[in-house]
Amino acid sequence: MAATKKAQKPQQTKNDGTSSCLMKWATRLTVLLLFVATFGWLDTIKHRWYVFDPTSLHELAQAAIAASPDDTAGMISHIVTNLTATYPSTQIRINRDSSEWVFNNAGGAMGAMYIIHASITEYLIIFGTPLGTEGHTGLHSADDYFNILVGEQWAFAPGALEMERYPPGSVHHLPRGTAKQYKMHEGCFALEYARGWIPPMLPFGLADTITSTLDIPTFYHTARITGREMLKNLLIGKI
Ligand SMILES: *[C@@H]1O[C@H](CO)[C@@H](O)[C@H](O)[C@H]1NC(C)=O
Repeated sequence: MAATKKAQKPQQTKNDGTSSCLMKWATRLTVLLLFVATFGWLDTIKHRWYVFDPTSLHELAQAAIAASPDDTAGMISHIVTNLTATYPSTQIRINRDSSEWVFNNAGGAMGAMYIIHASITEYLIIFGTPLGTEGHTGLHSADDYFNILVGEQWAFAPGALEMERYPPGSVHHLPRGTAKQYKMHEGCFALEYARGWIPPMLPFGLADTITSTLDIPTFYHTARITGREMLKNLLIGKI
């Protein structure tokens, strides 16, 4: 009798083990499905949080070029002044401190950027270099609109045998989930607007700094300014 009980016990434990393992996986699967469903739903409503739009930013870039020809600083100041006058500070935070430039190494290219706006669903920066650079655009979770202010940007995607050419006043739209090789052959500065999911883009923007340049002050200031801007936007309800 006692021997039978003993023999049954390990069997019982084994069954418990199997069902608790199943429970664990069922829970994990449920959490994963909930996560996917939530994110899928958020993705369909993310446009509600957009404040800027590609068309008016393109017009603004063109107006800035017309107002300050051959004067990059004048163009930048025109853009920031216009945005500050157009959008109330209760709706969106715009960083007016145009002395806040940081290096940006990403996808093998190098330039500097001034972050005008950063939130969860949008960013607006001035990016460029007077020297020229070349690299991979990155594969992003946001649509990217590159409004050329000064110089030219060249680009190509695999399959193309001729390059695309973007002069001042034009806009290079890189749809979400697509990538190209790009080159700022000589000096080039652009107003870059991204809309979609911004946080997943940040690792690409910082990877070269971590794995190549090891420029810790640049890493620190990029993270500090981006974090500060995203937080200040969240505090006024701009997602
Ligand atoms: C901002 O720029 C746009 C495009 O040039 C223009 O239509 C608009 O009137 C400007 N707004 C202000 C407040 O300057």
